[in-house]
Amino acid sequence: MARGFRLIFATSLLLILLDLCKGSNIGVCYGRNADDLPTPDKVAQLVQLHHIKYLRIYDSNIQVLKAFANTGVELMIGITNSDLLPFSQFQSNADTWLKNSILPYYPATKITYITVGAEVTETTGNISALVVPAMKNVLTALRKVGLHKKIKVSSTHSLGVLSRSFPPSAGAFNSSHAFFLKPLLEFLAENQSPFLIDIYPYYAYRDSLTNVSLDYALFQSSSEVIDPNTGLLYTNMFDAQIDALYFALMALNFRTIRIMVTETGWPSKGSPKETAATPDNAQIYNTNLIRHVMNNTGTPAKPGEKLDVYIFSLFNENRKPGLESERNWGLFYPDQTSVYSLDFTGRGAVDMNTEGNVTSSNGVTWCIASNNSSERDLQNALNWACGSGNVDCTAIQPSQPCYEPDNLASHASYAFNIYYQQNGATDVACSFGGVGIRVDKDPSYDNCIYMTARGNKTVASNTTAIASTSSSTHNEIPAWLASFLLAAFILKVLEN
Ligand SMILES: *[C@@H]1O[C@H](CO)[C@@H](O)[C@H](O)[C@H]1NC(C)=O
Ligand SMILES: *[C@@H]1O[C@H](CO)[C@@H](O)[C@H](O)[C@H]1NC(C)=O
Ligand SMILES: *[C@@H]1O[C@H](CO)[C@@H](O)[C@H](O)[C@H]1NC(C)=O
Ligand SMILES: *[C@@H]1O[C@H](CO)[C@@H](O)[C@H](O)[C@H]1NC(C)=O
Ligand SMILES: *[C@@H]1O[C@H](CO)[C@@H](O)[C@H](O)[C@H]1NC(C)=O
Ligand SMILES: *[C@@H]1O[C@H](CO)[C@@H](O)[C@H](O)[C@H]1NC(C)=O
Ligand SMILES: *[C@@H]1O[C@H](CO)[C@@H](O)[C@H](O)[C@H]1NC(C)=O
Ligand SMILES: *[C@@H]1O[C@H](CO)[C@@H](O)[C@H](O)[C@H]1NC(C)=O
Ligand SMILES: *[C@@H]1O[C@H](CO)[C@@H](O)[C@H](O)[C@H]1NC(C)=O
Repeated sequence: MARGFRLIFATSLLLILLDLCKGSNIGVCYGRNADDLPTPDKVAQLVQLHHIKYLRIYDSNIQVLKAFANTGVELMIGITNSDLLPFSQFQSNADTWLKNSILPYYPATKITYITVGAEVTETTGNISALVVPAMKNVLTALRKVGLHKKIKVSSTHSLGVLSRSFPPSAGAFNSSHAFFLKPLLEFLAENQSPFLIDIYPYYAYRDSLTNVSLDYALFQSSSEVIDPNTGLLYTNMFDAQIDALYFALMALNFRTIRIMVTETGWPSKGSPKETAATPDNAQIYNTNLIRHVMNNTGTPAKPGEKLDVYIFSLFNENRKPGLESERNWGLFYPDQTSVYSLDFTGRGAVDMNTEGNVTSSNGVTWCIASNNSSERDLQNALNWACGSGNVDCTAIQPSQPCYEPDNLASHASYAFNIYYQQNGATDVACSFGGVGIRVDKDPSYDNCIYMTARGNKTVASNTTAIASTSSSTHNEIPAWLASFLLAAFILKVLEN
């Protein structure tokens, strides 16, 4: 119970922050390929408690639509690939579906997008040709009831729609798909619907271990990849992939179509060979992704451009076939506890001048580990603080002043406090997925001095910092080499 509360509290703060962002939105995909998930009603509560405002589902399951009535959550619903045939064949099939399966729940359940088919170019069997006719029938059905402006119709794609994605400026659609992509793009432009893409730097990294730096995939590269045609600098694979798509659209003169990312994420666990599938990496990827999106950074080719992103996925899904990682993309376990603590605040880069309650007795507060925390949560949060959180954790190394007492709670407290003080000393900066707690009593002892934001008394240390995680180590490779390797790997990915 306490654990559940903390998780909810932490994520709530995170998502309240997301709310404040007027530009780009973060949503979550609610995949249900599992036999142990909570009921849709419970999921609706979980989603609301976490202030998740945008949710993607893959069908139009009635229990789910009912559960989200009057929650304010905006749903993207889907027509599955197996339904493309009837939807493309007869207008009446789309009309009936809308009348019987959607309208009874609308507008109590907010529906804003309908995806017609998903990643059709990845499927066997030639169903691509059905997509646009089905989209047209769905749009016509919506128009008949006056909802065509409120509900957008589109279809999702994998990066496999491109035949080239490196350098990004050379991005181009695979001409084998032109027969259905051309009418699809015309449809999107005409109806101001976005192009929906699923982006997975994880796969790109996993399938080309030696050639792509993990840091580049995790948004923490210290080197840049230069696009030789445009001179644009890329520091992460996500941006490079999005821009490849922008350039592919521009090459066909579709300049007005927006891009929306309908899936991206990182698995927290994988088979022994999938070494990058760890809670740490999943936490780093999603934390950095959220910060990147919320900051409205845009991409090098489209700086400041709004980019809505859905994180895959809400739950671990035990029925998904394939490698171990496939079943471990979730932010939550089926019992609704978090898989890892997600810090939506990034490294304090996000403006958080609204929520911070910095007041206390003397105006001075510290942040320490809550004594109710599980070891795992504490360890994750400590690793994060000393890694992505940029905290200098030297003082808690053996023989340093804050090493004793040698326990997780003490070490975590020391690290949490530094992060907190360095990042505005706000509630949010002491969240750590719910395991941080603010106190107004100085936790310093003996020679272990806890810094404060005002007089930053940190322990002087002259040893080389030993990071407690490897997440901040950079594998520096020259930009020219990186770009060469990137080209190699993208070709490889597209071959698959
Ligand atoms: C798929 O079907 C379309 C239209 O029926 C056709 O033009 C295209 O060549 C087909 N593609 C393949 C790979 O069979
Ligand atoms: C383009 O798509 C076709 C059909 O899916 C595929 O066989 C071909 O390898 C792709 N070409 C490239 C360069 O990706
Ligand atoms: C890495 O790049 C080299 C040189 O381009 C290539 O020979 C090798 O197959 C690549 N390895 C992988 C795993 O893609
Ligand atoms: C946030 O955006 C600004 C410009 O819009 C950029 O200079 C800055 O580096 C971004 N910060 C992060 C953490 O991405
Ligand atoms: C801020 O602190 C004050 C005084 O401690 C407290 O009354 C108030 O509830 C706090 N507000 C929030 C949002 O935590
Ligand atoms: C946990 O901390 C609270 C307040 O910080 C304290 O009142 C409580 O006694 C502590 N519990 C344990 C088991 O240490
Ligand atoms: C710790 O747990 C107790 C009950 O187990 C609860 O009353 C208390 O509020 C919790 N403290 C924190 C800081 O979560
Ligand atoms: C606090 O730390 C900053 C940066 O580390 C430093 O520039 C500043 O002088 C310090 N302030 C005090 C009062 O020590
Ligand atoms: C630096 O380290 C040396 C040996 O480890 C120690 O004698 C000295 O006191 C340290 N200096 C400071 C400022 O901590």
